[in-house]
Amino acid sequence: MSTASPKGLFISFEGIDGAGKSSHIAGLAQAFRDQGRVVTLTREPGGTPLAEKLRALMLHDAMDPLTEALIAFAARRDHLVQVIEPALARGEVVISDRFTDATFAYQGAGRGFDWNQLSVLERMAQTGTALQADLVSSFMREPDMTLWFDLPAEVAAVRLATARVPDRFEAQPGEFFARVAQGYAQRAEAAPQRFVRVDANTCREAVWEQIAQAVVAKGWLSSAAESKA
Ligand code: TYD
Repeated sequence: MSTASPKGLFISFEGIDGAGKSSHIAGLAQAFRDQGRVVTLTREPGGTPLAEKLRALMLHDAMDPLTEALIAFAARRDHLVQVIEPALARGEVVISDRFTDATFAYQGAGRGFDWNQLSVLERMAQTGTALQADLVSSFMREPDMTLWFDLPAEVAAVRLATARVPDRFEAQPGEFFARVAQGYAQRAEAAPQRFVRVDANTCREAVWEQIAQAVVAKGWLSSAAESKA
């Protein structure tokens, strides 16, 4: 048995549309690879063939908030079972562009779907995904760290105005994103040990510095990463 194999790490990126996560997700993946880690880069909704089909439905077909939430969790369950848990068991770093906080922020705060019911679905979908033993335990899979890109909705709207053809979420009005941003703030307040607030209303280098600092502070990367914007 190899005692040297590193412990799996699960990091999610969150924030309203237009917050600028994408390039930093790629940058963090590269920083881990540069330091010898194997990285699984993935996204939600999506990350498996089945979940990508569900993503297409969720982003483009009209539906009510409960249907939206159920699809998000169905996709998540498949993603966890097929991709995230096996990668963590191999000791990899899993970086996901969004995870469950997005469902609380978008379907919960944005659409107005009941927060407590989302918590029930969260527990159902994220328990019993790793080992057979988990089926009888209460272990619920959550990210080890969530990098939350906090950006005022009106700033994000300006950034999105130049984006490609909007999907069902990107096409929402400003008030929707203000509620989604508030939803993220509420999730962050409820789980301060997991959340890192990244001030996304600044230049690219300053955003990277905040990310690198958070990951280095945990001892997951050496300080060499901090200089690589
Ligand atoms: P996004 O991650 O922003 O990808 P892209 O950069 O390709 O647009 O798009 C996913 C959209 O799905 C985003 O608007 C948020 C939304 N979403 C939910 O509404 N609920 C969820 O649970 C998840 C994971 C995403």
